[in-house]
Amino acid sequence: MAPRRISIIGTGYVGLVTGICFAELGNNVFFVDISEQRIEDIKNGKMPIYEKGLEELFRKNRKKISATTDIKEAAESTDISFICVGTPSGKNGEINLEYIRKAAEDIGNAIKGKQDHMVIVKSTVVPGTTENVVAKTIKETAGNRFRIGMNPEFLREGNAVHDFLNPDRVVIGTKDEKVWKELEALYEPVNAPILRTDIKTAEMIKYASNALLATKISFINELGNLCKKAGIDTYRVAEGMGLDKRIGRHFLNSGIGYGGSCFPKDVLALIRFSQDSGTDLEIIKKVHEVNEKQPLKILDVLREKTDPSGKTIAVLGLAFKPDTDDVRESPAIKIVKELMKYTKNIRAYDPKGMENFRKIFPELIYCKSAREAVSEADACLLLTEWEEFKNLTEYDFSGMKSKIIIEGRKILSRERVKDFEGVCW
Ligand code: NAD
Ligand code: UGA
Repeated sequence: MAPRRISIIGTGYVGLVTGICFAELGNNVFFVDISEQRIEDIKNGKMPIYEKGLEELFRKNRKKISATTDIKEAAESTDISFICVGTPSGKNGEINLEYIRKAAEDIGNAIKGKQDHMVIVKSTVVPGTTENVVAKTIKETAGNRFRIGMNPEFLREGNAVHDFLNPDRVVIGTKDEKVWKELEALYEPVNAPILRTDIKTAEMIKYASNALLATKISFINELGNLCKKAGIDTYRVAEGMGLDKRIGRHFLNSGIGYGGSCFPKDVLALIRFSQDSGTDLEIIKKVHEVNEKQPLKILDVLREKTDPSGKTIAVLGLAFKPDTDDVRESPAIKIVKELMKYTKNIRAYDPKGMENFRKIFPELIYCKSAREAVSEADACLLLTEWEEFKNLTEYDFSGMKSKIIIEGRKILSRERVKDFEGVCW
């Protein structure tokens, strides 16, 4: 395949991974962002985020990568633009399209007089957005012919490079034959089934997938709360269920609920989209409600063991999942916020997430290691299943004032640590 010339609009987790992986597949990539800092970083060879394996791939492909804050410069020297800007929650859970609108307007201005530029929406957007907002805005701004498509992204943070290069499937929503052919060729090297749909279906596949994964998590968490009361190990139950191929073992890890920049906001956006469409998604609403309550279950378990008032509590794990520095909607935020009503003495440690967490909670005591965080602590809450926590031993916890260890994610081993308890298993 001849190398494609691709613009990536928005250099967050998805934009950076998409662009760097397309470069790895042999294409030339132009990154565009409104953040001057991000673009400076990329130009200077600095990776603005932590994502496993991404920096190495970036260094390897630097010659194929350019970066600018001037979208016109990028549009002039490329043929395809992928929109990868954020689509956060609005005040009432609805999708906030301000970045999408602005990106569409910017592209419209940038491709004025340039025929047939392809614009592909990769951001997660509710059905109808690509045609009624993005395409409409570009049409009004540019006034000339362009081509449109929707290509949702299914990568997971912490595993993003692997997921992008080895996806279970690629979904391409477009009516445009040329867009289909170009994207089919672009994705050909990743060797995954490629599903062609119309644009609205592609948009919905993304929400339906995230909503079902979130449903599995809330299901197993509710069941886990029951299992704990009944003295049953939820993880053995999940194992037994998961052997049934129709159920599958994935996304049945009970714990303190799902966090991150996607499940929480996508579940809410889907609920709002359904309400705006005159129908109600009862199951998904419950999935959200269960997830709202689940993080605080760990404090119920703590309170059964000790009154946390004025005590020193160690919190291990702040990122919403391991192998990322992302703390957006991390269950740790809700837990720490509630814990602060009881005590100011919170000692925190996370291998990558501390810098971002400090922006939200500057008042915590940030430590250099798990061992340092738990020293002199009256209790320890383990909130993210980082690999390094797996190896913690009795010795690492030996500095604790009293040995109350509660896991919010299943990670510790009975061979290494004697007494600890799971939040819902
Ligand atoms: P992010 O917030 O990390 O990054 C968005 C970037 O876009 C920022 O750098 C911002 O400065 C930039 N931006 C905003 N407006 C711009 C404009 N007009 N022009 C150029 N740049 C602009 O977001 P993210 O986590 O990468 O998510 C992006 C989209 O992808 C969202 O819709 C999200 O739901 C979806 N998604 C995310 C993931 C994930 O794991 N993070 C996975 C799949 C899909
Ligand atoms: C998720 C999806 O897995 C991706 O397919 C999707 O592309 C992405 O959202 C998105 O749309 O942004 P991500 O949020 O990066 O990816 O990470 P996950 O591994 O899905 O974990 C999300 C949350 O669910 C984490 O807080 C994790 O701890 C929690 N989780 C996951 C559980 O509590 N139990 C599980 O069994 C699995």
